[in-house]
Amino acid sequence: MLTIRPYQESDAQSVGVLIADTYGKYNLSEFSGSQRDEMLGPFLYARSAEPSHRQAIAEAIHAPTVLVAEMDGRIVGVLRGGRVDALGRTVLQSLFVSGDCHRRGIGRQLVERFEQEYVARGVRVFKLLATLEAVPFYLEMGYRKSTGVRSIHSFEGRGFMSQPMKKVLKK
Ligand SMILES: CC(C)(COP(=O)(O)OP(=O)(O)OC[C@H]1O[C@@H](n2cnc3c(N)ncnc32)[C@H](O)[C@@H]1OP(=O)(O)O)[C@@H](O)C(=O)NCCC(=O)NCCS
Repeated sequence: MLTIRPYQESDAQSVGVLIADTYGKYNLSEFSGSQRDEMLGPFLYARSAEPSHRQAIAEAIHAPTVLVAEMDGRIVGVLRGGRVDALGRTVLQSLFVSGDCHRRGIGRQLVERFEQEYVARGVRVFKLLATLEAVPFYLEMGYRKSTGVRSIHSFEGRGFMSQPMKKVLKK
């Protein structure tokens, strides 16, 4: 059974490993070893028990809203969001679903739950920077490309290509 619930501090290690593995496999596979390590930032140490690594990961996961998807006691998805950008738009900051659970509607449920939470607070405009791999997913979720593709940084790594997208709900 799939449950969408708020993240708890005790989820940090599972969520860190999920992000490290999914980001590394689906979004960073074309980068060389050192570039990839820079782009993973603290998630490079997702399996480390070192307190400073655990602390850096907990800080990197932190966001106004963090939701997890749990299936049979295992965390298989995470969505971070709720930051407000300079133009007053609520940002969906990141979303990862475990590779063995893709195309089962988990990403959709996480995005819908996130949007519902913010729509209830009066938010009508959502923005995000999509990985190029996730553009078809976000198009399906009602987001539209807002500019051309941009090169951004991912932690210490430069040259990560991303597609700005937004969704404007009717008042
Ligand atoms: C993008 C991602 C979160 C989607 O999660 P998911 O749980 O597999 O997505 P869903 O099953 O909810 O997909 C909903 C719909 O989106 C569309 N979609 C999803 N993935 C797609 C893909 N790779 N290609 C084309 N359409 C896709 C489909 O229409 C799908 O419905 P369907 O399966 O009934 O056809 C997941 O692929 C992922 O974690 N990717 C790697 C990390 C990443 O790029 N994250 C985005 C960061 S901004």
